[in-house]
Amino acid sequence: MNRSIEKNNPMPIRYAEPSNHEISSEQPADSPAIFRIENVSVDYSNTPAIRNIFLDIPQQQVTAFIGSSGCGKSTLLRCLNRMNDLIPTARVRGRIAFRDQDLYAKTIDPVDVRRRIGMIFQKPNPFPKSIYDNIAFGAQINGYQGNLDALVEQSLRQVALWDEVKDSLRKSGLALSGGQQQRLCIARAIAIQPQVLLMDEPCSALDPISTLRIEELIHELKRQYTVVIVTHNMQQASRISDFTAFFNVSTTETGNNCGHLVEFGRTKAILPTPSRKSPVNM
Ligand SMILES: Nc1ncnc2c1ncn2[C@@H]1O[C@H](COP(=O)(O)OP(=O)(O)OP(=O)(O)O)[C@@H](O)[C@H]1O
Ligand SMILES: [Mg+2]
Repeated sequence: MNRSIEKNNPMPIRYAEPSNHEISSEQPADSPAIFRIENVSVDYSNTPAIRNIFLDIPQQQVTAFIGSSGCGKSTLLRCLNRMNDLIPTARVRGRIAFRDQDLYAKTIDPVDVRRRIGMIFQKPNPFPKSIYDNIAFGAQINGYQGNLDALVEQSLRQVALWDEVKDSLRKSGLALSGGQQQRLCIARAIAIQPQVLLMDEPCSALDPISTLRIEELIHELKRQYTVVIVTHNMQQASRISDFTAFFNVSTTETGNNCGHLVEFGRTKAILPTPSRKSPVNM
């Protein structure tokens, strides 16, 4: 029988253990870990993508994954809500505990995992439905019994979209601008009250103004949620994250490129404080 993931038991944080690569870390004693990633490796069709990742992700903080293209940031992020289960060639090894429960235990329902651990993608992906239904539909299929009008308004207010769309709720979500669509997708995700939001380069398709709005939103969201965000923009990571995990690619004995964790710690100890707001990508 499937079991849902319990909400209690935050674990005391434990920091990166040494693998083949040198890892420096600074222990945030005050932040319990919500995810405990232990020796996680992922292959696609037997080709290694990431190897031997040990990482604790602090609860109710923003953690940024940074590193060069192909180093496995998205792969690791997808491990956190079992999205890699949907890629037939992907094989995940090691252990990931979410609130002290093994996310990959046979008794855990991956659909329930994805409800509790929501995901925002690089390209906004609203349903081809009205703005209202983008939020109401997901909530309804997840068994929401409350007042849908109130939920729609509250979710849109939380992402600072309500004032822009309150008179056009029946308009298609696809008719919004890219930045508005991304905020709609975040509203849709938070309407089902997840515990964690995973974001894979959520601003990379957006203009600078929309990017700043999403960054402000992430800052607000961390009051309620744990956020893990992949970004190529070092200044964005500096602005919005409390912790940073820095990944790199190295070549294995078999000649494959494979990602590994290089460093994890408080962002202000790892990244320089941004002095200007223009993006610096890596
Ligand atoms: N669905 C897939 N099938 C096969 N190989 C994949 C798949 N997804 C990722 N990979 C491979 O796994 C490795 C890590 O890819 P991943 O997309 O996780 O990196 P990334 O750090 O997110 O890169 P980027 O910054 O470009 O998004 C790469 O070598 C990539 O080619
Ligand atoms: Mg990626």
